[in-house]
Amino acid sequence: MRIKIKGHIYRILLRKKVIPAGLVEIIPDFYEAPGEARQVTRGDKLQGKVALITGARKGIGYSVAYRLLKEGAKVIITDSDEVLLEDAVRHLNSPDAAYMVWDITDGDQNRHFKEAAGIFGKVDILVNNAAIKKEIDPYSDFENASPDYVHTIHDTNVMGTVGMCESFVSMFNGGTILNVISNTAVRAAVGIYWMSKWALYDYTKGLSKRLQNVSPITVNGICPGPARTDMMRDYIDNVYLRTPLNKRLALPEEIAELAFLQILSGLNGKSGEILVCDGGESLI
Ligand SMILES: NC(=O)c1ccc[n+]([C@@H]2O[C@H](COP(=O)([O-])OP(=O)(O)OC[C@H]3O[C@@H](n4cnc5c(N)ncnc54)[C@H](O)[C@@H]3O)[C@@H](O)[C@H]2O)c1
Repeated sequence: MRIKIKGHIYRILLRKKVIPAGLVEIIPDFYEAPGEARQVTRGDKLQGKVALITGARKGIGYSVAYRLLKEGAKVIITDSDEVLLEDAVRHLNSPDAAYMVWDITDGDQNRHFKEAAGIFGKVDILVNNAAIKKEIDPYSDFENASPDYVHTIHDTNVMGTVGMCESFVSMFNGGTILNVISNTAVRAAVGIYWMSKWALYDYTKGLSKRLQNVSPITVNGICPGPARTDMMRDYIDNVYLRTPLNKRLALPEEIAELAFLQILSGLNGKSGEILVCDGGESLI
């Protein structure tokens, strides 16, 4: 949906919530799958590298894949839906881009990584981007959450990603892992998704520590703030009510740029660093 608000008086937004006077903001044009990246820097810093990005048929994952491809990497995008992956890889439009159907919760990571390494001969970079966020209003999440809901979020955002990392570490002798976390990991965890990102933040630090002196694999993270993707689509009225006025949502390609910089640092030996890139914005 695309709504423009330029109000000097109170405005009614989705679900009849009230936006304070003076707000000048554009409710974003959400990226449809897979979306076209807009302006992307190009270079050759990842020549010879192979990157695997989870949850990459659209949104931030797709933009990361696009960015890494433009930096000379070969990329394997993974997600759970083959038709949508085919569409995404067609948009990437490069012989250096491939896809694999891979649900990160299926527990079959070793087999998948073996298959992935067969595509371009190796995997140097793992970007754990896949995640789900289901709540509309995090403030009522804990009151309303069913055990099924809690498990689904935890199994995907935490244990799915943990499984990916552990398998990568057990199967490869080098490379770097980048976990896409969230700025919710450094805010008060008012909802279940937020709590899952807290867990991932600490796991990322912990894995880096565990690998110190025993493996050359580096592990880093990024914590984006609210971004213009489908994940925020249902959430938008709450975000806008709690985000400082006149700020905007980040573009996926802006987050992809930060992801690229963290990956570069990871390949250069930096580990255990988590970049919070939310411009100081908080929903809480
Ligand atoms: N959009 C934001 O405002 C925002 C802010 C902070 C962090 N993040 C994080 O960025 C990452 C990407 O989010 P996005 O905004 O692009 O969301 P998105 O919903 O557009 O994309 C997420 C992708 O992950 C895939 N996915 C979900 N579960 C999966 C599974 N079990 N196996 C494989 N793929 C799976 C989905 O199919 C989807 O393509 C997530 O980790 C999210 O938590 C997003």
